[in-house]
Amino acid sequence: MDLYGSKVLVTGGAGLIGSHIVDELVKEGALVTVYDNFIRGQRDHLEWACANGVVKIVEGDICDTGSLQESMQGVDYVFHQAAMWLRLCEAEPRRAIEVNIIGTFNVLESCVEAGVKKIVAASSSSVYGDGSYFPTDEGHPFNNDLFYGATKVADEQLMRSFYKKYGLAFVCLRYLNVYGPRQPFQAAYMDVIMHFLNRIDTGEPPVIHGDGSQTVDLVFVEDVARANLMALKSEITNDFFNVAGGAETTLKELAQMLLDLKGRKDLQPAYETRDTKLVSRRFGCPQKAKDLLGFEVSIPPREGLERVIEWREHAVTDQVKPSVI
Ligand SMILES: NC(=O)c1ccc[n+]([C@@H]2O[C@H](COP(=O)([O-])OP(=O)(O)OC[C@H]3O[C@@H](n4cnc5c(N)ncnc54)[C@H](O)[C@@H]3O)[C@@H](O)[C@H]2O)c1
Repeated sequence: MDLYGSKVLVTGGAGLIGSHIVDELVKEGALVTVYDNFIRGQRDHLEWACANGVVKIVEGDICDTGSLQESMQGVDYVFHQAAMWLRLCEAEPRRAIEVNIIGTFNVLESCVEAGVKKIVAASSSSVYGDGSYFPTDEGHPFNNDLFYGATKVADEQLMRSFYKKYGLAFVCLRYLNVYGPRQPFQAAYMDVIMHFLNRIDTGEPPVIHGDGSQTVDLVFVEDVARANLMALKSEITNDFFNVAGGAETTLKELAQMLLDLKGRKDLQPAYETRDTKLVSRRFGCPQKAKDLLGFEVSIPPREGLERVIEWREHAVTDQVKPSVI
């Protein structure tokens, strides 16, 4: 499939993953609409894309059906990334349902109305909840018990329903732990990598909640963007895939790796007991995506983290240096 000249809409296109999808689309000569309410996305994530391609930015909410329908007119393909993040879903469950489930329904409905040919949508390994076996493959049961994961399970079911009733072609990607340049580093939004780096940058040891044996399955954001385009271009529809690094990194290893990359071997991670109620182990099986989409990660964690550190040095100085960790 040649995307040159195709009209492609990316919901959440100013966010971490969405903006990297936009970059990939620009490289292919697609005409891109970014649909984002900027609750977390940033215009400067789109600087390169706007300077190098045809990118229209719509400041709109997926809960606003009128604006969504208007923006969807004439669109060939959609990448759906807009969603409320995990911690906000836990803090505000009703809003999580409104944005992540009803918002997704709105996106799918407007795709059907506009005659969109295919949608690739973001799901999450959260649907698996606590894994009962590892690496977790796509046949693993939905053990989720968090609101965020509940919205992703519901979204997956909506996609199947839209496919059955209206023939809306879709591929749904269950991302593992995505990281990379453009990750938020401010207190309210941060993930563990940014927490660790903020501490290291102020000369303090990274703080690990628990004993450090919890694991993440790191997948670099540019690989995730590539997986999205491969899913769009493949003949496959009505299916679900992990987008996984396929390797476990413990939080202790992650903290050590960051200390090493920052040249701060003098610091040692500190440990705090805290019940986070979050999943303690992530290790996704990448085999199905490899076999059916031809997707494999290309950037190992150490290289990806080096790139995060490099990007962060400019991003943090361009904005406010973090004071609250
Ligand atoms: N980052 C990860 O590790 C990860 C893991 C699993 C799944 N996901 C999923 O991938 C998708 C993208 O995640 P991300 O990490 O890029 O997050 P992000 O927060 O950086 O991007 C989401 C974007 O959606 C926008 N948005 C939020 N609510 C909106 C609304 N109501 N209307 C329009 N725009 C809205 C935000 O402003 C933001 O730009 C999400 O669906 C997320 O649940 C992410």
